[in-house]
Amino acid sequence: MSLTAHQIRIVQESFTKVEPIAEKAADIFYTTLFEYDPTLRPLFKANLKDQGKKLMSTLKVAVNGLNDLDKLVPVLQGLAERHVKYGVKAKDFTPVGNALLHTLKTGLGPAFTPELREAWVTVIHIVANTMKAHSFS
Ligand code: HEM
Repeated sequence: MSLTAHQIRIVQESFTKVEPIAEKAADIFYTTLFEYDPTLRPLFKANLKDQGKKLMSTLKVAVNGLNDLDKLVPVLQGLAERHVKYGVKAKDFTPVGNALLHTLKTGLGPAFTPELREAWVTVIHIVANTMKAHSFS
């Protein structure tokens, strides 16, 4: 699975549009996630506002790191190791990925074109597969 330079550019560009509405985006994300899978709610012990900020800042690191996957992989591996401790399972990446796509669609509106959606799906797969391969197999 790989991304073209064009896909990397449009994903990075689209993320700059989400950043100013990061708090709202995090809110949409968790509301959607717990609708998709209410059993995930008890895994989150911390304040969701703080958690949302961390999620957005890590997504930023991931999105900006797409140009240099070799540097990004160890960051995702560390994240994966911590997620095992949070009680996350491999299957949980599906609702999380879907909630993220829904958040982007809601946040970006018509700017979330099919082309951009496809690029984000690839990014989410790369992130999830890297994390799963390291700690969830
Ligand atoms: C898609 C990639 C993901 C990213 C980028 C991400 C990002 C983060 C970040 C930055 C944190 C803060 C703590 C830390 O850095 O270790 C965190 C914590 C957490 N994440 Fe994720 N995460 C991802 C996938 C998931 C999945 C699939 C689940 C499953 C439900 C999940 C559930 C949690 C939980 C339960 C915590 C701890 C919250 C707490 O202590 O209250 N994450 N995540």
